Amino acid sequence: MENRTWAAVDDYFSSHLIPPDAALDAALRASNDADLPAIAVAPNQGKLLYLLARMARARTILEIGTLGGYSTIWLARALPADGKLITLEAQPRHAAVAKENIDRAGLSGVVDVRVGRALDTLPNLRGEAPFDLVFVDADKPGNPEYFRWALELTRPGSVIIVDNVVRSGAVADRDSDDPAARGVQHMVELMAAEPRVDATAVQTVGVKGYDGLAIALVTG
Ligand code: SAH
Ligand code: DHB
Ligand code: MG
Repeated sequence: MENRTWAAVDDYFSSHLIPPDAALDAALRASNDADLPAIAVAPNQGKLLYLLARMARARTILEIGTLGGYSTIWLARALPADGKLITLEAQPRHAAVAKENIDRAGLSGVVDVRVGRALDTLPNLRGEAPFDLVFVDADKPGNPEYFRWALELTRPGSVIIVDNVVRSGAVADRDSDDPAARGVQHMVELMAAEPRVDATAVQTVGVKGYDGLAIALVTG
């Protein structure tokens, strides 16, 4: 599903609220030149992540799914100078592009890119928890396990954000056999049953099409 109005409105808001940014533009260009898939968050979504991290006064952030580091750069900019962001990426090629982009953005001092499948690297993070904010944006069938880990690695007051929970509406198909849609559905069921979080999810449209994100506050 695509809609020219959605993209025009994104461009309108972004042109007013998001100044041209050499490091972010270079990150997208380098990702494109390296043939990474064009699935980074949109500029206004990146800024939303940045603002949410600022509002949460995050000093420690965990990201699952780095790609070329576009969302990583937005999130890392929300951190104080002594903050820390750890981002997990399975593909060494993606991680290499991300490291260059993060370096060019002047953020290599606060960002740590860890290469490996998230389910293999997450158990090593217990000593670095709790994280104030977790952004889940890797393989979608993994979402239930990533949500469990996010809970394990946070504290009351932390924020958990999950990208791509709508996927053009597939999430509402209860009979779906799409592993991505089923992953999101299972995660939403976990969120609903989990007394330690209070959560919602919203649909989004824009230059990335029709999708959405879930946000949970860790309460206990
Ligand atoms: N957060 C990025 C987009 C991430 S795209 C942004 O908005 O800019 C999803 C990324 O998750 C891809 O780079 C993919 O290689 C990675 N990924 C997929 N499965 C993974 C896994 N099991 N562990 C870690 N990363 C994974
Ligand atoms: C896909 C993954 C994403 O994280 C995203 O934002 C959009 C698409 C995908 O795997 O197709
Ligand atoms: Mg995503």
